[in-house]
Amino acid sequence: MTAGAPAKKVLITGGTDGLGKAAAILLAQRGWRVFASGRSAEKRAQMDALARERKLSIETVEMDVCSDASVAAAVRTVIARAGALDALINNAGVGYVAAVEDLRLEDLRAQFETNFFGVVRVTQAALPHMREKRRGRILVISSVAGLIVPPTYGAYSGSKFALEGLSNALRLEVAPFGIKVVLIEPGYIITSFQQTAADLTQPYAEKIKSGPYARIYEGAWAGAKSGRAKSKATPEDFARVVLRAMESSRPSARYGVTPLATFAAFARRFFPDWALDAFLRRRFHIPDKV
Ligand SMILES: NC(=O)c1ccc[n+]([C@@H]2O[C@H](COP(=O)([O-])OP(=O)(O)OC[C@H]3O[C@@H](n4cnc5c(N)ncnc54)[C@H](OP(=O)(O)O)[C@@H]3O)[C@@H](O)[C@H]2O)c1
Repeated sequence: MTAGAPAKKVLITGGTDGLGKAAAILLAQRGWRVFASGRSAEKRAQMDALARERKLSIETVEMDVCSDASVAAAVRTVIARAGALDALINNAGVGYVAAVEDLRLEDLRAQFETNFFGVVRVTQAALPHMREKRRGRILVISSVAGLIVPPTYGAYSGSKFALEGLSNALRLEVAPFGIKVVLIEPGYIITSFQQTAADLTQPYAEKIKSGPYARIYEGAWAGAKSGRAKSKATPEDFARVVLRAMESSRPSARYGVTPLATFAAFARRFFPDWALDAFLRRRFHIPDKV
C-alpha cells in the first residue's frame, strides 16, 4: 500500500481463526484496515486483545455467514465504521467428511450453507458498495479439494467445486465494474479446521468403524494423515499468497498454496480421469474389492 494513502478496508469472513486470522494479521501489518468476522465471541475477544497488543488495525465483527440478518448487520456495521469496502475475503468454511451413501442430507445442506451459500450471501451484501465505488476485490477461499476429490470428500469438495463455478461467473460479471475476483486454492495446512471436521464427523463414528465403507474410511484417513504429515505449509504461507492476490494490480484468476496445490492444478489439467482415479485409489488405499 502507498505510504500516506488512506488505509484500504477489507472484510474477512472467518477472520478470527486459522487461515483468515493469519491473513488479517499480515494485511493489517501491511497497512490495511481489517474487519475480521466470526461467530465465536471468545475468538473475537482473543483477536481484539491481539490487535491491541500488537497495535494492529484489526476490528472484529460478529457474523454468521449462514444468517441473512447477521450478514446484513455485519456489512452495515463495517460500512458505517469504514465508509467503504475495498475488499472482501470469503474465507469462512467447514468440512464434513463422509462417504456419499452415508452422508446425512442435513449435513450436506449445512456444508453448502456455510461454504457456498455463505459466500453468496456475503458477496451479495458487499457488492453494491463496491459497484458504487467502481472498484473492489473479492477473494474466494476454495481448496485443492475444489480441483481434485479424495474419497469421503464428496460434501466438502462439492461445496468447493460449486465455489469455483460461482467465482468463474462472478469474475466475468463484475470486471466491467472494476471489481476483481480471485480464487485461492490451499492444500493441507494445520488449523482448527481438522479438529472441527473431526467433531462434525462424530455422528458417523459407527459407520466409519464397521459400516460397508469401513475400508474406504480407513484408507481415506491414512491418506489424509500422511498428506498432513508431509505438508509443512503454515497459515502464514497462506497469508503471503493472499497478500499477493490482494495487492497485485493484475491478479491471476487463481492462486495455489502449498506444493499439493501446484500438483492438483497440474493433475486436473493434464491427467485423464482414469489416471487421476488410479493415482487417488493408490494414495487412499482403495481396494479392488471389499
Ligand atoms: N486448513 C486447511 O488445510 C485448508 C485447506 C484448503 C482450504 N481451506 C479453507 O480455508 C478456509 C479457512 O479454513 P481454516 O483452515 O482457517 O479453518 P479454521 O481454523 O477452522 O477457521 C474457520 C473460520 O471460519 C469461521 N466460521 C465457520 N463457520 C462460520 C459461519 N457459519 N459463519 C461465520 N464464520 C464461520 C470460524 O469462526 P467461528 O467459529 O467463530 O464462526 C473460523 O474463524 C475454509 O474455507 C477452508 O475450507 C482450509
